[in-house]
Amino acid sequence: MCGIVGGVTDQNITPLLLEGLNRLEYRGYDSSGLIVLSKQNSFERARSVGKVSNLEMNLKSRSKEINGKIGIAHTRWATHGEPSSLNAHPHISKNTVSVVHNGIIENYLELKNIQIKQGYEFKSETDTEVIAHSIDSEMQLGSSLVESVQKAVKSFEGSYGIGVISSKYPDQIIAARKGSPLLIGISENGNYIASDQMALLSKTNKFIFLEEGDIAEVKLDKVTIYDLDGKLVNRPVQKSKLKAGQVDKGNFNHFMQKEIFEQPQAIRDTLESRITNDSVISSSFGHKADEIFRSIDQIQIAACGTSYNAGLVAKYWIEDIAKIPCHVEIASEYRYRRPILLDNTLFVTLSQSGETADTLEALKAAKKINNTLKSLCISNSAESSLTRLSDLTFLTHAGPEIGVASTKAFTTQLVSLALLMCSIGKLKGYISRRQESEIVNGLKKLPGLINEALLQETQIKQLAKSFTNKNSALFLGRGTMYAIAMEGALKLKEISYIHAEAYPAGELKHGPIALIDKNMPVIAIAPNDELLEKLKSNLQEVKSRGSKMLVFEDENSKVQSMDSMKVIPITSNLGRISAPIIFTIPLQLLSYHVALSREADVDKPRNLAKSVTVE
Ligand code: F6R
Repeated sequence: MCGIVGGVTDQNITPLLLEGLNRLEYRGYDSSGLIVLSKQNSFERARSVGKVSNLEMNLKSRSKEINGKIGIAHTRWATHGEPSSLNAHPHISKNTVSVVHNGIIENYLELKNIQIKQGYEFKSETDTEVIAHSIDSEMQLGSSLVESVQKAVKSFEGSYGIGVISSKYPDQIIAARKGSPLLIGISENGNYIASDQMALLSKTNKFIFLEEGDIAEVKLDKVTIYDLDGKLVNRPVQKSKLKAGQVDKGNFNHFMQKEIFEQPQAIRDTLESRITNDSVISSSFGHKADEIFRSIDQIQIAACGTSYNAGLVAKYWIEDIAKIPCHVEIASEYRYRRPILLDNTLFVTLSQSGETADTLEALKAAKKINNTLKSLCISNSAESSLTRLSDLTFLTHAGPEIGVASTKAFTTQLVSLALLMCSIGKLKGYISRRQESEIVNGLKKLPGLINEALLQETQIKQLAKSFTNKNSALFLGRGTMYAIAMEGALKLKEISYIHAEAYPAGELKHGPIALIDKNMPVIAIAPNDELLEKLKSNLQEVKSRGSKMLVFEDENSKVQSMDSMKVIPITSNLGRISAPIIFTIPLQLLSYHVALSREADVDKPRNLAKSVTVE
């Protein structure tokens, strides 16, 4: 979603703000802006619509450099108010207070009406401006900057991660968070704030992760943190293992392409120290994992988007192999239902970022419904709101995923879910030692199999051209491949803007077959499993309606290639667990090359943000 970076240093802060914004751009990018306090303690601000490069051009075109030792900056993904320079952050109140904000102030209209009566003039349509005015009005009453923030946040309903500077307090930034992540970077040359460590990796690897309700006063040589109740607190300084170079494209054209090709290594890293020669180390889910896994009778998974699709695959595995009832639900729906949560439920959240607001709220709602439930978060982010709120955490070790479309996070989530299924099934007595050993050996082969699947890139790139002018596409699969078809359709629509839908192939005749004609390409996945013959019949139904088909198959599936049906063998002898992971690869490559052939911005698709920290 939106990104925040800021700092108090002994040098000019503007280059750091720009670098941070560039590194945060993947989170949201319809506009960006920065503000610094000049030597004369006056605000100097620049804001531009579009990419951060537009802001850089804006700065270059100025006759006078924007220069100062303290500043805050923001990349915006519009929620309240269209993308425009006026709505871009930072916002200013009375030339005294300036604010950048991630999140949504839900009661902003109410606050705005009060502030208009107090004489405040609104320059934007955003909810953020009320934050600046609230802080200013507290300062007018005589409070210090930090006290004003402490008082102001009490009136906000919703979520916020904010950075605040004031011309009256030129030596400090105030950072505050509730529901939106915010951290402090510590270095010898200054201290920084950011919504994501990536923004600061070139300056420091030492971070303090603010907790819910924390407010921090960040100065050149000192950081003071207060909790929700205003009490002074100590938060640990943690060393990040991430390196600035990990967030570069390397020799690849796009982050998405790099991340697709990183999957063999990402899976090796996810498996490392989690398996022995032939068994799963269930304690890698946490030291209480064995006890919790033994006690559970069902699993409820909640997630969004790609992570939800991973959950759907896991449902098949968990019920088929580990014999535990498993439900999967889209988190944004779950949080507003009144679901029944039996005792002995393991509530699993899946989230690359660990910050998705809907998933976080689904977990909170579940805890309210049944306070005996145990929770596990599978995430790619060690220090996130979801991991902090969960009893158990399992990290996917995919490394930073910058491309907005999730790729390696998905396949490493699947690997993690396979380990979860195996651990629970083993502890509950449904998975034998022999089965466990087979599963583990299958997982170890995944990196090699993915490398084999990646070899199809040239052929898939060629085939992608036939999609360039299409408006719609249909993805078909059965069993776990239905979930993979959903993931394929999601990838295609989000980066190429082609309307794509996924159906379980057996459902076709109940309606969607009416859509099929020569303009509707159909992509099918044909593993060599017990449903293969049924799928082949479904493909015949499609073929006789004149559609052009593309089938990714297991070599042993032997789907017959013909003019209207291009069949691409991916590999052979895939098992129940490896098949969905391996068949994901050609679908990722297909959407990547279709998007390129349509000249779409693959890494930064329109209207999307990497981490959706608002509802
Ligand atoms: C699709 C995509 C999104 C995310 C979804 C959940 O490629 O990236 O659908 O999967 O927004 O995000 P996380 O996993 O961070 O909770």
